[in-house]
Amino acid sequence: MEKTLVNNVMLAHERVGSGKPLMLIHGFPLDHTLWNETASLLKNDFDLILPDLRGFGESPAVDSAYTMTDMADDLAGLLNHLGVEKIALAGHSMGGYVALAFAGKYPQRVSGLGLVASQTLADTSERKDGRYKTAKQVAENGVGVVADAMTAKFSANEKTQGEIRSLILRQSKSGVMGALKAMAEREDLTLLFAAFDFPVALIHGDVDELIPVDRARELKAARSFAQLIELAGVGHAPMMDAAEKTAEALKLLK
Ligand code: MLT
Repeated sequence: MEKTLVNNVMLAHERVGSGKPLMLIHGFPLDHTLWNETASLLKNDFDLILPDLRGFGESPAVDSAYTMTDMADDLAGLLNHLGVEKIALAGHSMGGYVALAFAGKYPQRVSGLGLVASQTLADTSERKDGRYKTAKQVAENGVGVVADAMTAKFSANEKTQGEIRSLILRQSKSGVMGALKAMAEREDLTLLFAAFDFPVALIHGDVDELIPVDRARELKAARSFAQLIELAGVGHAPMMDAAEKTAEALKLLK
């Protein structure tokens, strides 16, 4: 993977395909390989940029605290380095939070937004406390704690579970802890979402146990121009459990 120093962070990314630029942003606690199948299905339609967010995959962790906006700034710096001014962004779950932060700060650079199994809401205080507790457990016992708690919630499919589990176990403790804290402190971006004027695709499995499909339905109700693609029987990993439908839906951002 190519590595670039941006925003004082070393950021790794893959770039594949040709066409209109589209960045695929992975969720928590994963890395860009989550999108492998999506990338092979979309490489004839898009110039795909697949970063590893700071602290994940081949992008090293940062010890100081950071926010979703810092992660969005990393991506803006990467795009500056690549000479890409305007781009469509598709974020999975936490990647959607980063994409929303990017769109809030750099709306003129966004040509479209895909939220895949994501939401605009901030954490409830209970969820926030849970994040800090989990971060403490990760510090003490490693990322296996998160793999044990989350894997089955991504998908009922055993093959997907195996892939997600090994992806989680490859991540670093400090990257996982940093992202947990950044997610806990993120803002509610629902009002910002309602003001977007570029194409929006909401792609959501209807049996998602981590972020219920109601979050996407509420966004559709708030902004009827957004396209909602509900995937029947799919959980929190649409790009694995419904790869073709997910890729097809992302073509709405062309
Ligand atoms: C993710 O898949 O990125 C996380 O489940 C998001 C979250 O915990 O809010």
